[in-house]
Amino acid sequence: MLQRTWPAEGLTRVPYWVYQDADIYQREQERIFCGPTWSYLCLEAELPEPQSFLTTFVGDMPVVVARDASGAIHAFENRCAHRGALIAMQARGKTDRFACIYHNWTYDHAGNLLNVAFRKGIAGKGGMPAEARPESQAPKKLRVESVHGLVFGTLSSEVSSLKSYIGPEILPRIKRVMIKPLKVLGAYTQVLPNNWKLYMDNVKDTYHASLLHLFFTRFRINRLTQEGGVFVSKDGAHHCTFTRMIEDQGDAYEKEGMRSAGSSSSQFRLEAPELLEQEDELGDAVSIQILSLFPGFVLHQIRNSLAARQVLPKGIDRTELNWTLFGFADDDEAMTRRRLMQANLVGPAGYIGRPRGLHLDGGRRRDRLRAARRRRLARARLGDRDGRLGRRLGRLAHHGDRGARLVESLAQPHEHLMNAEVQPAVERLHARYAHALDEGRLEDWPEFFTQNGRYRITTAENEARGLPLPVLYAEGRPMLRDRIQSLRHANIYEPQRYRHIVSSALVEQLDGSHARSVANFLVIRIMESGDTLLFASGRYVDRIVLSEEPQYEERVVICDSRRFDTLLAIPL
Ligand code: FES
Ligand SMILES: [Fe+2]
Repeated sequence: MLQRTWPAEGLTRVPYWVYQDADIYQREQERIFCGPTWSYLCLEAELPEPQSFLTTFVGDMPVVVARDASGAIHAFENRCAHRGALIAMQARGKTDRFACIYHNWTYDHAGNLLNVAFRKGIAGKGGMPAEARPESQAPKKLRVESVHGLVFGTLSSEVSSLKSYIGPEILPRIKRVMIKPLKVLGAYTQVLPNNWKLYMDNVKDTYHASLLHLFFTRFRINRLTQEGGVFVSKDGAHHCTFTRMIEDQGDAYEKEGMRSAGSSSSQFRLEAPELLEQEDELGDAVSIQILSLFPGFVLHQIRNSLAARQVLPKGIDRTELNWTLFGFADDDEAMTRRRLMQANLVGPAGYIGRPRGLHLDGGRRRDRLRAARRRRLARARLGDRDGRLGRRLGRLAHHGDRGARLVESLAQPHEHLMNAEVQPAVERLHARYAHALDEGRLEDWPEFFTQNGRYRITTAENEARGLPLPVLYAEGRPMLRDRIQSLRHANIYEPQRYRHIVSSALVEQLDGSHARSVANFLVIRIMESGDTLLFASGRYVDRIVLSEEPQYEERVVICDSRRFDTLLAIPL
């Protein structure tokens, strides 16, 4: 290891190598994650019944968390005692025992070795020597404790109980949110191109919130002058900030000419502000509470959006952020809807998402961002004009006889004719949609939907688990337009383009004036720097109104992967 010396200025100077040195990273794994700390594992609600399990990590170490037949929760290293293969490969499930995939050694829910295949050989031949003690190599077991439905584990026998580790300053702020049995709404993972500590630093940085996340200030929703406060644990390890609900109409940002300033005109108003309507369910008029526990846990309440975030280091310059959004088991439909709406505020497609580009590469990226933003705004102004013209031309083209024939043919119950007409109409809609996005004509995007059209991005995993959580959700054109308005004026993100590759559509259902169709897609993302990445793959599941100019009544974008590369800025 290189000899590192802390700058003489002391704690007011944090050297970059803290975030960049692989040796430091290794030491963090040993001394922090395997040391006297508690790491967040999951919600109790994610292990709903006896014998359910999930797999996760403590630092770099893969871990199984399982509920045994009596309901007790255990956690153990997900490495077989034999040759270190993964004991459990699935993300989650239910099993009466774990069988290692390699040589079929089996384990119980606490990680005890139950059985060694052919331990005594076959018919008296072969097998292990009598004195062999494979049990002694059983996977490491973690101490597990829960607090208000949050499950934590540690490898340390010295660290104090979880409650005293969290301490009296922060514990009541967890209790404040976790008031009832939970209902999991869904999960996804955000991949961040930076050291894990930068994320934890950022969570505690109250200075940036209203300056970087333009959304709240520009739309005059939250401002620095609001009432709030910060709690810090005695040892400085954990923190909690909160803001009260009173809206600030002050002009501090405008007077100082901040980037996040709004405008006195109605230019920056949400067309569909119901997205933000909060019910004061916790009864203390707090609109935002962000709480962090060292080393890698964040609990948030942002209006009625509640979530646990697990921060997992994946090398010096990569961090995975596992989001699990939840509500309460007794939520009514209106509350669930509110939570799903406000899920739009956070995560990879969050209105107040964390932009890519906050890592340590000096000012070059900032300059590029500024230049690109100027270009984007110029393009947007042009695009508005061209877009409107384009749309008019598009409509004229569609008013040609082909559109008329389509409507006519749909009125006739002639299946072959219908299919023959519907297929190209659906595919033309998909093609126009993809080209509009890829050419940056984002203002056209809402118009591919009916007036009340719905758009939802989710993951195949949430779909398979029957969980409603969207990564991005909008219903109705005003909300779709708010997305674009925010993208243009209130979100900072690294300039990028998409290239969509969409398969031919499979029209699965036709009823009168509607078609249900499925198409596969790939989206390639091209950054300003030229970095090109296969950003997303998945399926479009659409319900389309077959008017003369077909539109989406609903477009559900089901991404194959639960992981998103930092930011999903532009719709898919
Ligand atoms: S590695 Fe697990 S049984 Fe051999
Ligand atoms: Fe932030």
